[in-house]
Amino acid sequence: MPRINDHYLKLAAGYLFPEIARRVNAFADANPDASLIKLGIGDVTEPLPAACRQAMIDAVNEMGTPDGFRGYGPEQGYAFLRDKIAEYDYRARGCDVSADEIFVSDGSKCDGGNLLDIMAPPGSGPANTVAVCDPVYPVYVDTNVMAGNTGPADETGRYAGLVYLEMNPANGFEPAIPGTPVDVVYLCYPNNPTGAVASRTALKAWVDYALKHDTLILFDAAYHAFIDDEIPADDGQPVPHSIYEIPGARRCAIELRSFSKNAGFTGTRCAFTVVPKGLTGKDASGGDVELHGLWNRRQSTKFNGVSYVVQRGAEAVYSQDGRAEVDRLTAFYMDNARRIREGLTGAGFTVHGGVHAPYVWVQTPDGLKSWDFFDRLLHDAHVVGTPGSGFGAAGEGFFRLSAFNHRDKVEEALDRIGRCFASAPA
Ligand code: MLT
Repeated sequence: MPRINDHYLKLAAGYLFPEIARRVNAFADANPDASLIKLGIGDVTEPLPAACRQAMIDAVNEMGTPDGFRGYGPEQGYAFLRDKIAEYDYRARGCDVSADEIFVSDGSKCDGGNLLDIMAPPGSGPANTVAVCDPVYPVYVDTNVMAGNTGPADETGRYAGLVYLEMNPANGFEPAIPGTPVDVVYLCYPNNPTGAVASRTALKAWVDYALKHDTLILFDAAYHAFIDDEIPADDGQPVPHSIYEIPGARRCAIELRSFSKNAGFTGTRCAFTVVPKGLTGKDASGGDVELHGLWNRRQSTKFNGVSYVVQRGAEAVYSQDGRAEVDRLTAFYMDNARRIREGLTGAGFTVHGGVHAPYVWVQTPDGLKSWDFFDRLLHDAHVVGTPGSGFGAAGEGFFRLSAFNHRDKVEEALDRIGRCFASAPA
């Protein structure tokens, strides 16, 4: 009889999005005539860019020829894709990232969880102190629970042992830098779920803190493509797309990125993680060890790479046509976000985000609890969103609406929400 990983038993019953899907499916079964509009999980709705499709078709055909056939690819990703990422995502923005520091993968969610493989397991010496924002993308928390880096959850869902950095309207969704040193901090900008961004000044403060305290920043930039470069951050400077725009970040940060949201690859699967050379952690005897080598070792052993066909599709994101199509897609979703922001504001709601990110963070009216608001929207408006409390205790009283849907669905959802809460918002 195998012993299980008891840490899993500390987790809430279901991961947030499957739990929402379960509730929505139960409602749909009981109300088969209801036409539901989903603005819940951040899953894209618009077709793959033509340039990516054509590149994938060409790659499939190439694989059908004796000369073009390929078996196992490099676990780190093909050079043709890593070179493009280094050139367009980093060098073009003045960031010092080389192709061999880029690890192509099947998703940022997976990489975020897998990175814990190269961190000290519990019981192996002094435990890592891990900090997360609250509200937070639940993957950062749940994977730390699974890895045994926390104690049990309290009644608000917060786990013992994690350091929670609250983001709220009072602090402008800029969490205070911890007063004490932490070993690892997860930052996500543009932020999921609040839609907030970190200014260059704020990110510099994080990098300075990390360099001072030997903290590793895990920087999730999955939504960077939605930044509006015409609208500066609150320090008057352009919103950074990458942590590596900040001097010194190579010595303290790993960055995660994805083709899911910008190029519609949520189903196709392609992402990448940057682990700079020279970035180190400590071994049990206090010696410095390069994380790049450890991550390379981990990936080579546990991962066989993303398929050639999909990597050719991702490469096409950087072609002239691909870039134009991605710009159109991101502009389309951000126009949805603007409509949601303006529509809800007009209906009397207080909203945040939705300017540099495809998420609008809505204050629930009349002090409604997040899940009560979820139920009300589902039952009365047949609209699905994500309860803020699902992202953490500090998300209570908020609700996330995603801008990922067809235009007519977004318009219809706004209309229904407006009618449903015609007199309600306080
Ligand atoms: C979300 O809705 O927060 C995202 O879709 C989750 C993800 O990208 O895994």
